[in-house]
Amino acid sequence: VAELLLANRPDGELPLKGLNVLLTAGPTQEPLDPVRFLTNHSTGKMGYALAEQARDLGAQVTLVSGPVALEAPYGVDTIAVTTAQDMLDVVQSRFADADITIMAAAVGDFRPAEQSQDKIKKNGRSTIELELMSNPDILAWAGKHKRANQMLCGFAMETRDLETNAAKKLASKHCDMLVANNLRTPGAGFATDTNVVTVLTPNMGAERKSPIMEHWEKMGKDVLARRILNRLAAMRAESLYQ
Ligand code: CTP
Repeated sequence: VAELLLANRPDGELPLKGLNVLLTAGPTQEPLDPVRFLTNHSTGKMGYALAEQARDLGAQVTLVSGPVALEAPYGVDTIAVTTAQDMLDVVQSRFADADITIMAAAVGDFRPAEQSQDKIKKNGRSTIELELMSNPDILAWAGKHKRANQMLCGFAMETRDLETNAAKKLASKHCDMLVANNLRTPGAGFATDTNVVTVLTPNMGAERKSPIMEHWEKMGKDVLARRILNRLAAMRAESLYQ
């Protein structure tokens, strides 16, 4: 139905015209002291591809980005953040206006419990203990606060049991779509220009609510971004007619 609704829109009208798209991208950095931080290997490529494609499909795009080496995309409202808490603050201030939200950031799950004001010195020690505390889960917050017709998509990076773990994330974070990839699959993962993903959507009709899983072939992150956005636009259009 949704594909038909979109196919029948007036000539030349882009599928995301008039919609606000909110994106997170890149890693977070959690400071330990003035010279060190905890982070991960995210480059932001997937999130930035989503931003450019969403813009080209007609959306007003807000990109909340952790520290990356990529240039802010032309025509996209790019907000630079450092920590998971910063990212949450920006998402919370923008979420109510978002029609489609996609969280592609690799958010640090933990941060140092204490941030030292001065550089931590060795002081002759051969080991050092670091206490970490959990960070807010931004996607879970959005899942809890989303309204009907607000589409929410998360990513999941796994190294094992991809389908089971991704299905749990889709349900527990109340997503409309979860895009999962296995870090160990060639052509998938952090610094690559391609991705190989399994796309999960809730199975509304079924009695047993195991999600629908689609295994998409290896493709460029820009092509993948466009397919994800088109699918979410179609799901949103369908939700408006229910
Ligand atoms: N995410 C988030 N905030 C966090 C952690 C994750 O918004 N504090 C989002 C990511 O942007 C991604 C999704 O949640 O869209 C899944 O992230 P992932 O790290 O794979 O899952 P976790 O929830 O951290 O679960 P686990 O560590 O058990 O794999």
